[in-house]
Amino acid sequence: MEVTLWGTRGSFPRIGGGTSGYGGNTTCIEVRTDAGDIIIIDAGTGIRDLGKKLQKSQQGGKCALFFTHRHWDHVHGLTSFDLLYNPEWNISIFGPQLEFESWSHTICTIFNTCYFPLSWKDIGHRHKVEDFRVGDSFNVGTALIETCACSHPNGCVSYKITADGWTFFFSGDHEWETASPAEQEALEKFMGSADVILADAHFSNEDYPACKGWGHSNMNQWVEHVLKTKVQRVVFTHHHPDYTDTMLEKCVADIWRAHPDLPLRTILAREGLCITKETETHPLDVVLPATYCPMCDFSRKISRYADPGLILGSVLTEARSLGQADAGTIYLLESDDKLAFSYAQNETLFPGSAANRMTYLNSTIPKNEQSIAGYVAISGITLNILDVYRLPVHVPYTFNDSFDKSTGYRTVSVLAVPLIGSNNKTVGVLQLINSLKNGKPSAFTADAQHHLEQLAITAADSIERSRLSNELLVRMLETSSLRDPTETANHVMRVGAMAAEVYNCWAEKHDIPIEELRTTKDTLRLAAMLHDVGKVGVSDLILKKPGKLTTEEFFEMQKHCAMGASLFKEPTSLMDIMARNIALHHHQKWNGKGYTGDSSVPPLSGTDIPLEARITAIADVYDALVSTRCYKSPMPVEVALEIIQKESGAHFDPEVVDTFMEIKDVIRAIHDRFSE
Ligand code: C2E
Ligand code: SIN
Ligand code: SIN
Ligand code: FE
Ligand code: FE
Repeated sequence: MEVTLWGTRGSFPRIGGGTSGYGGNTTCIEVRTDAGDIIIIDAGTGIRDLGKKLQKSQQGGKCALFFTHRHWDHVHGLTSFDLLYNPEWNISIFGPQLEFESWSHTICTIFNTCYFPLSWKDIGHRHKVEDFRVGDSFNVGTALIETCACSHPNGCVSYKITADGWTFFFSGDHEWETASPAEQEALEKFMGSADVILADAHFSNEDYPACKGWGHSNMNQWVEHVLKTKVQRVVFTHHHPDYTDTMLEKCVADIWRAHPDLPLRTILAREGLCITKETETHPLDVVLPATYCPMCDFSRKISRYADPGLILGSVLTEARSLGQADAGTIYLLESDDKLAFSYAQNETLFPGSAANRMTYLNSTIPKNEQSIAGYVAISGITLNILDVYRLPVHVPYTFNDSFDKSTGYRTVSVLAVPLIGSNNKTVGVLQLINSLKNGKPSAFTADAQHHLEQLAITAADSIERSRLSNELLVRMLETSSLRDPTETANHVMRVGAMAAEVYNCWAEKHDIPIEELRTTKDTLRLAAMLHDVGKVGVSDLILKKPGKLTTEEFFEMQKHCAMGASLFKEPTSLMDIMARNIALHHHQKWNGKGYTGDSSVPPLSGTDIPLEARITAIADVYDALVSTRCYKSPMPVEVALEIIQKESGAHFDPEVVDTFMEIKDVIRAIHDRFSE
């Protein structure tokens, strides 16, 4: 069985206005069993193209057309359904007994010559029209069709179709909030056995309250009820005619921001989408353990992150809380003989977010037995030191007091554990400083040591994994889109890091909850690294042209946005949505004078441009300004900052410019870290 969507809009068809991605035709669904039975649900304007396709693909035959209810947007395509006029076709039409008239009466009214040139009398003899009771079941060929009431002004019916080993559910028009608890429970039970549900999510979460009682739901309400069932795939449909593609994607992105753990696949219905039985589960699926286990909780949390900075930060925060440590540092092995000082937290010296800058510090120590971290890295054993200024005489390592000297900090106790990854390879060292008891530095307990050694296993694993995936991504970008020989992998690292840090600062100012901030920051970094992937589709002649582009060449170049976006068509995760938004919109301008390289996606302005794209735009342009390109030489940082500032309110979102300027020190650290 295959389900194809021919219409995904609700209320009224919509042409243009940024809706071309998900389509403008009203509800029409084609269900086709493997045996060739054809079942159509609703006759919105999508039925026109479906009729044409069926006429082309087969000489004649029969099909069953089921209606959910009588509202215009579910019936107003009927007169343009060509099969009705073709003598080789027989259509059986079924509709639920709701209030008012019979379905033959409805159909005769639609084909009343005062509204339409043909009368049902002229064509109806080849077809049949039947009413059924809500709750009835039928067989059409090899398919079983079941029905259940849903909540909508004057009634509506939902369908469940089972054939070829799987079950599809379509809600019809349905409003969860106006259904009684018993009705809700009945519908949950009914849809609970489906593999995929197609759901009326007409309104955004913001617009819903003002339209309560209109007979439609929002995505959040569906998620809430679907989570009570075993259903794992939800396709949202009946899109509001005023909602642009971007707005719809924002609605899905909001769900993922609020519930990064959602054990569901969320898919936006678009015209032409073909739904089949799929067995794969979403990569973000989480299996909850039977009992609460803090260490499992922690592993699960960091296993979701891909961003090395985020992983190191979470590891260090967790480790410090296990050991009640005032400070901590992570060293990562950079080459066979060097350890890089990779992340540091120190509550006394730099409380709060100043630690972000430390992520991009670029200092290393030799990997040898003379330092505490070096000794741990080489020996693979834990050191639990009571006082670093009173080391036993026979040990090879000494304490490097230069940090204490320059800051006035007094390091006393140190607990340093090796981070050992796969193949027993040391990836780094996790070092905690000054276990505080009643505010005073004291020894790390044996318990703390034991817990930290356990945590180190998970940490090493996550660090290795994130390094691998980052390297893979960068290598892919190097071979695919970065064909301009002057544009290096460091450019994408910088743009990703700058975008992530600008978001971090912006989100803190907007009181975004910490988990949401982390998830978004993490995803944004990777998604921003991919902003120019669409350049893979631009000719080398243009991409590597040493001089200025002609108008025609620049026009071709602009297509890189749309081409990049087309790589992330199905928005099934926050990563897909962000990568798509950034690729498509990173050359939009705040004043509406930017481009997407796709004439069907109009220029957006102001906050209509997704935040992640507004942020990436600044990072991308700033980096282009201070870098060498085949067509330009670099400019000094000060000049670049002036240009960014001058474009505030024109090219760029003023608030994002202010945020960028606030973290100039982090921006500089990023530049030093990823320099050519
Ligand atoms: P890109 O090199 O990554 O540049 C990204 C954006 O940075 C540009 O977007 C532009 O907004 C800004 N930018 C870069 N250099 C300058 C500059 O010297 N002054 C100012 N004020 N802004 C600058 P834009 O213009 O939409 O270009 C998109 C892409 O098209 C560029 O990506 C580059 O790959 C290509 N491109 C643009 N102009 C030329 C050109 O004259 N010659 C060649 N060969 N390629 C060009
Ligand atoms: C529809 O969306 O089905 C028509 C309008 C309405 O139901 O209120
Ligand atoms: C409706 O479908 O009930 C009306 C929604 C709208 O178009 O505002
Ligand atoms: Fe670009
Ligand atoms: Fe770029």
